Amino acid sequence: MAIELFNNGRHVCVMFSDLVDDSASEAVQSNQFLIVTNGHGALIDPGGNMTYNALMIAMGKYFNFRELDLILASHQDPDIVASINKWLIGTQCKVMAPGVWERFLPHFCGVGNTGGRIIGIPDAGMNIALNDAVIKAIPAHFLHSEGNFQFYDVTSKILFSGDLGASLVPHELAGQPVTDFAAHVPAMESFHRRYMASSKACRFWASMVRNLDIEAIVPQHGRPFMGKVMVDTFIGWVETLQCGIDLLTQDNYRIP
Ligand SMILES: [Fe+2]
Ligand SMILES: [Fe+2]
Repeated sequence: MAIELFNNGRHVCVMFSDLVDDSASEAVQSNQFLIVTNGHGALIDPGGNMTYNALMIAMGKYFNFRELDLILASHQDPDIVASINKWLIGTQCKVMAPGVWERFLPHFCGVGNTGGRIIGIPDAGMNIALNDAVIKAIPAHFLHSEGNFQFYDVTSKILFSGDLGASLVPHELAGQPVTDFAAHVPAMESFHRRYMASSKACRFWASMVRNLDIEAIVPQHGRPFMGKVMVDTFIGWVETLQCGIDLLTQDNYRIP
């Protein structure tokens, strides 16, 4: 099911939360995103081979997939961009991904499919034009990948946060906004303690995004945070999070 996160008649943000086949229960639920503005389209974190066909069909209500302008990749993981070879063959799109992964992504692709079509986003981030709309690539390095961006859509004020904010919930719950933050924390906690790199990165990120006017934070797994109160609550939670190397001891490094 396509969930419209924003629609003002000429700019639409759509979330797909149920394209990973339920019966493939070994695969983690993931969300894919489409932004369409004035006849131009971008996919954010379109996923792997598992979601390619379903996404191509599901996005058809909003946009002819063959006209796709851009794929924006938060980082290099398989659930983010393992499908790019198919998108590169099926469309004329360019793929924008963290610069530190630019030369690794061609390993997902056939020889000769990537020439000039994978564009590295510099570490400092950048403003990306989609026709006359702007999508900001916001640095989120080490949250979790070493080279990692979130995408802030200036028109809708939605921050697509990649794996930060991810929750592991049943597939049918994934599209539903968080209503009780405290009750939702257990669905995020163990994921963030392991997959996020350190509290230092969390604090810098929180301090940065407090300067953004954010209406919703929408992660790549699980449930979105809608409205300023929930957004602020989530940022506060990240700011004090202990995770990754903060939690390591010698016990984590013992020869088996
Ligand atoms: Fe990831
Ligand atoms: Fe992910």
